[in-house]
Amino acid sequence: MTVSPNMRSVAATDRSIEAACEYLAAGELVGVPTETVYGLAANALDESAVRKIFAAKGRPDNNPLIVHLPDVAAMRQVVRWPLDPVVMDQFEAIADLWPGPLTIVLPRSERLPDAVTAGQATVAVRIPSHPVMQQLLRRSGLPLAAPSANRSKYVSPTTAQHVVDGLGDRVSMVLDGGACTIGLESTIVALGEQPRLLRPGAITAETLATRWNIPVESLLPVDQRPVVLEAPGMMLQHYSPRTPLLFADPSASVPAGRVGRIAFEPLSPEESKTFAVVRVLSDTGDLNRVGQHLFAAMRELDAMGLDAIVTDTCAAEGVGRAIMDRLKRAACRE
Ligand code: TXA
Ligand code: MG
Repeated sequence: MTVSPNMRSVAATDRSIEAACEYLAAGELVGVPTETVYGLAANALDESAVRKIFAAKGRPDNNPLIVHLPDVAAMRQVVRWPLDPVVMDQFEAIADLWPGPLTIVLPRSERLPDAVTAGQATVAVRIPSHPVMQQLLRRSGLPLAAPSANRSKYVSPTTAQHVVDGLGDRVSMVLDGGACTIGLESTIVALGEQPRLLRPGAITAETLATRWNIPVESLLPVDQRPVVLEAPGMMLQHYSPRTPLLFADPSASVPAGRVGRIAFEPLSPEESKTFAVVRVLSDTGDLNRVGQHLFAAMRELDAMGLDAIVTDTCAAEGVGRAIMDRLKRAACRE
């Protein structure tokens, strides 16, 4: 992929945020920071702007987008209102987790272009907490459709430079709001008779289940992969570096060639020596830190022309559920 040599991200300031608002109002694409990952934003109410997102990402048009809003009041622009009473109760039990890394799938308003929802009867909405994204949403007054700002199937971006690297020639502007603090895409839940977890994230399934007073298992897919059907974008291979990704196995030898290592906590000096490069994501094995730095480490090692990347794994519970979900997809070569 060619990247325009002149494309740079722009530090988020009052002026650059104003410029971003103008691009968005004119139907253009802007790379935007959020607390989870960087997004590729367009005016969700402008069908032709939304189509540009799919073209820029190389994203299949049957994969719906998340709509970002400044606050709950703005939901009426895109959600069918009022919610039915069962859904309203579920919603109220989790609404205080906003603003934050949580996306909620609700019945859509007729006003929303079909392109956003891929023709589905529902819309995924999120109120992000990143101050730059909050300012952009408030000043533009627009609901912003924004998938992760990566080419389809590649690793999500957690810095403005990642966006420039992958999509620099396809956006009008990239607003730099610093490295993402969460680093993993938002948790997605669908509300209804039986709420379902469509994508694990930093707001954990355990937290949601507690709010609804239901067992965690009842939120999960029967085969642990319902996402394949329920969220059309969640095909198994996703978030993939080009370099083969393998899970660390203490009883196996290190693969041949130049091998990179993603470690969740410091390795012993002897073990470190067996790898061409080691990235330690947390000094203490803190999984929130691991989540924050995981995608950046994958991208960095992927750019080094290694023969393989070996990564630590963790228990699939709490935020570890999201980490293992992303790692399994990244390792999949289907
Ligand atoms: O953290 C995030 O959610 C980031 C930032 C930018 O907000 N966005 C993000 O978007 O990860 P994207 O497009 O990469 O992933 C959105 C996922 C897709 O798997 C899509 O299929 C699912 O959300 N989705 C969107 N609308 C849906 C709907 N109406 N029903 C079910 N799944 C939906
Ligand atoms: Mg994505």
